[in-house]
Amino acid sequence: VKPIGLTGGKGVKVIGDQVTSEEAKDYLQASDYEGVVLEERLIGEEFTIQAFVADGDLRATPAVQDHKRAYEGDEGPNTGGMGSYSDTGLSLPFMAEGDYDAAVEILERVVDALPDYKGVLYGQFMLTDEGPKVVEFNARFGDPEAMNTLPVLDTPFVDVLAAARDGEPLPELSFSGEATVCKYAVPDGYPTDPDAGAEIAVDEESAGDALLYYASVDERDGRLYTTTSRAFAVVGRGDSIAAAEAQAEDALAAAGDRVRIRHDIGTADLVRRRIDHMDELRH
Ligand code: GLY
Repeated sequence: VKPIGLTGGKGVKVIGDQVTSEEAKDYLQASDYEGVVLEERLIGEEFTIQAFVADGDLRATPAVQDHKRAYEGDEGPNTGGMGSYSDTGLSLPFMAEGDYDAAVEILERVVDALPDYKGVLYGQFMLTDEGPKVVEFNARFGDPEAMNTLPVLDTPFVDVLAAARDGEPLPELSFSGEATVCKYAVPDGYPTDPDAGAEIAVDEESAGDALLYYASVDERDGRLYTTTSRAFAVVGRGDSIAAAEAQAEDALAAAGDRVRIRHDIGTADLVRRRIDHMDELRH
């Protein structure tokens, strides 16, 4: 269930998982929105594929898995996204052969229905025991997923944009073949009661080879403070998800204890649980 309207990715409550049906009724009655969206609950593993679209054609980028829940082990309230990972190829370890292509085929059918659309098409899918099913589409990049995808895009991004602008065929995309792991540092208490105004330490030098992206921070007198939203993200890259995860963690070592991080994202243990979950559903 979800109130109608924009809720910053935090509006959905899953009945039978996060809330009981009675709690869902109370939640919706207490909200200021004008109506309610009810959707079938899909069981599986979520993944995102972002594609560049122009002139009825698309170029898809590697699948990414975001982590919406605030706490490790996928516990707690939904957030804007606590971090995400992608693998060395286009697919993810819990996906079977054909799942990536099946999702891209769904994106292609959307593009066929929107021949004039130019831009990014963000497809979010649930991989179920019957294959990928649509959760939602957005006409924008994903956050954090763009931080996984754009750093491994070897094709100059501006060439993609120029081709779209000029009505020329979009270039075939090439990728570096690196796995990526993105982790957000968020204020303590985020998203329900974020500790805004906490001073944070970001050592840009010690980020090493990892990429550092500021999100929502206040800079005052040369010092950085949290706001009520996600503060900054780091992205590690490597020849495996494990190597990318280690690089992201190294870069976060200086983050201090005023921010919270989902250290489980991209770990071998978490990836294994995703694979086991899909194995269980398929058999
Ligand atoms: N990562 C979720 C979104 O960008 O909508």
